[in-house]
Amino acid sequence: MEREGAFVEESELLKYGNAGGFARDLACAQAGDLALLVGPDRRWQILRLEPGQTAQTHRGVLAHDDLIGRPWGSTVLSHMGQPFLLLRPSLHDLILRLRRTTQIVYPKEAGYILLKMNIGPGCRVVEAGTGSGALTAVLAHAVRPNGRVYSYEIRPEMQHLARRNLERLGLADVVEFKERDIAQGFDETGVDAVFLDLPNPWDYLEQAYAALVNGGYLGSLLPTANQVTRLLAALESPKWGLVEVEEILLRPYKAVSARFRPEDRMVAHTGFLIFARALVE
Ligand SMILES: C[S@@+](CC[C@H](N)C(=O)[O-])C[C@H]1O[C@@H](n2cnc3c(N)ncnc32)[C@H](O)[C@@H]1O
Repeated sequence: MEREGAFVEESELLKYGNAGGFARDLACAQAGDLALLVGPDRRWQILRLEPGQTAQTHRGVLAHDDLIGRPWGSTVLSHMGQPFLLLRPSLHDLILRLRRTTQIVYPKEAGYILLKMNIGPGCRVVEAGTGSGALTAVLAHAVRPNGRVYSYEIRPEMQHLARRNLERLGLADVVEFKERDIAQGFDETGVDAVFLDLPNPWDYLEQAYAALVNGGYLGSLLPTANQVTRLLAALESPKWGLVEVEEILLRPYKAVSARFRPEDRMVAHTGFLIFARALVE
């Protein structure tokens, strides 16, 4: 779906507890819910439904009062008669609209990271740096309700932004934010997984190893091949095994039966994924 930057109100993203379809099982949009509005050209916005408010779009205005009480999946018309789909936003939608000032881990990598590192309900996961909190949100969503995400970040302003993002998504309760240079190490031991999303992960392998349970999962995302080879060299140690490097290419298609073909443009590169397991020496 194409992004509609003009009418995204970032401050109005995202009480995720109301957004996923699993927190509530109501068939109709309610006041206070987050809603996804998709226009005729697939441009979309996410908004919180509030009585008396209006949604401004490039194809006319929609009154929230006309959306509240409608079944999810309905088509609603703007004041210009243009049709908009009313849907619950997915975590994928919410991550793409997260307020951000850093590069984030995109959904195509985040979903794979969860499977690869066996992260699910009840897991304890360490990540650094927190950045804008995109991966934090995906981790928190996966480990809840009984798991824990310990998220380390050196820059207070980033930690503040990420905390706000997680609060808007209703996911902050399973996250412990820690403002620290991870050169000083992690507080936790015996965690199931450590993910390092910062430029020099090779400098923190000792700290990651000390935090991990025997056999635990290490993951990292790096944009350049130079960084990957440097990390690979550092992982050549009896402490680490099953080292893998992977890249995920996602190719979107025009979903039209009469002219089905790849989209003209795609994101060619986001980053390399590096995984390893912590071994007993
Ligand atoms: C690419 S961003 C992380 C993005 C995040 N994974 C997301 O999905 O939004 C990298 C972050 O690592 C932080 N960072 C870099 N070195 C660090 C260190 N030694 N300790 C803690 N955080 C660090 C940076 O301040 C930055 O916010």
